[in-house]
This record gives sequence, C-alpha cells and structure tokens, in this order.
Amino acid sequence: MKIIDQVAAVRAAVAGSPRVGLVPTMGALHEGHLSLIRAARRSCDLVVVWLFVNPTQFNDAADLDAYPRDQERDAALAADAGADILFAPGVETVYPAGFASTVSVAGLSEILEGAHRPGHFAGVTTVVAKMLNMLRPQVAFFGAKDAQQVALIRRMVTDLNIDTEIEVLPIVRESDGLALSSRNVLLTAQDRQRATALFRGLSAARQRVVDGERDAAVLTGVVAAALAQANITADYVSVVDPATFEPIKTVTEPALIALAARVGSTRLIDNIEVTP
Ligand code: PAF
Repeated sequence: MKIIDQVAAVRAAVAGSPRVGLVPTMGALHEGHLSLIRAARRSCDLVVVWLFVNPTQFNDAADLDAYPRDQERDAALAADAGADILFAPGVETVYPAGFASTVSVAGLSEILEGAHRPGHFAGVTTVVAKMLNMLRPQVAFFGAKDAQQVALIRRMVTDLNIDTEIEVLPIVRESDGLALSSRNVLLTAQDRQRATALFRGLSAARQRVVDGERDAAVLTGVVAAALAQANITADYVSVVDPATFEPIKTVTEPALIALAARVGSTRLIDNIEVTP
C-alpha cells in the first residue's frame, strides 16, 4: 500500500484505473471502516482510503484535540483490509492559504446533528466535495451510522452533478450492540457499559414498531426511557424520513430513529431502521 500526501501524486496514482473506490475516514480505524475498505476491495480496481481529521467539521476545539490519531496503526489496518493507497493530506494541502469556499446543503444541514453542532455539516460537505474532486472516484463508501451525513452527501452529489456513486454499508456493532465509533476509545469503562443503553433503547423501539406501534412520540419515549435508566440524557431522539430527515409523527413508511447523546464526556450517535 502506498502512502501519499500530495494531491498531484494521488491523482497520478489513480489515473487510468477503471473503477476507483474511495473510503473517506478521519482515521482511528475500526471494524466499521474496515468493512467499507473490504467492500471497496471486492468491487473496485483501486481502493483509496482518505485519512484526514478535518478541522472544519469540529465545532468544539477540545473535541478536535481529543480526537484519536495514530496514522501508523491506521496504515497497517487499511493495508490489511485491502487498500491500495492511503491518502493522508496535511491541513495545508486541504485548506491552503487563501481557502475561502464552502459547500453547504440548506435545510438538511441545520436540523438534528446540524442544530446541535453548528457548522459541522458545512465542514463535512466541503471536505467531501474536495475529496471527490481531487480523486474523482467511481464510488465512495460510507457507513450507515452517520445517517444524516449520508443523506447530505447524497443530496450534494445529486445537486452538484458529481459523478460518484454513494454506497452505504450497515452499522457494525459490538456484541452488546454498541455501534462502532472512533470515539468509543474515549469512553471510561463505566461509560462504555452505560453506552449500551443507546442500542437497547433503539432495539426496544423497533420491537414496538414490530408489535404495531406507529406513534413516533411513543417510540422516542421508549428510547428516552432506556437512556434515562442509564442516566443518559439525549441531545435528541427523533423519528425521521431516512432521505430528508424531516420528523415523522406516524410511522407509515420505513423510517429511521436517530439519536445523539453524551455519555460522560463523549458524544455518541446511533440510529435504527424501522419498517411498519
Ligand atoms: O465520517 C467521517 O469520518 C467524516 O465525516 C468524513 C466523511 C471522513 C469527512 O471528514
């Protein structure tokens, strides 16, 4: 696996490959990322892993500082999962002096995660637009845990006629249901245990849908109760349309229950699909 940090070099390295697969990451790779790299390996001629802790999507400087970083470990894991190139540009390469442009998706970027993390999604869509322009991949792979991010990226790619397929893979979970996240390493042992309440709550709500419940307020109440039992207060728990993230009052179509919660000092997100 080649490790590249310059745009011209990575463009030269991908040139001529019929199907380039891009796996965007901020590092601290876990099994969720590796499932994306393996999927890219199965369907693409050349697999590029993007590794960049994007400062513009952090609305809290302490969160950016605390974000786990270990490029050597990430490179070993990416190579082992089948990546051909690890593209790890520096901040000055992604945001050179004079950089002044932003890509933002109106509406969708302002609700739920967007409302709680002002500016976060503009940072995400700007850096994703940049990586898609730098590499022009045929397909880019994202995880379903960041469901609102995926909805935004799909909107952006459609709106801006970006010629990249967006492929979304299922959430990878620990055996006790906790969704894999680079932030999980920041949980204390006790908070790690409490964090299992997120999936417990989402699963209980999904079971209520299977049993016939359709009222979104009841479903969010079920999740909130599971969180409360673990002494966790959610930033939000919402039943939404999976494409627009508009809130749903009555579940008559497949929907997503999405949540964000702070467990100790670590903020986690999760979601589950429910089908009436
Ligand atoms: O999902 C992530 O890790 C990041 O938001 C992404 C897509 C790599 C952009 O920095």
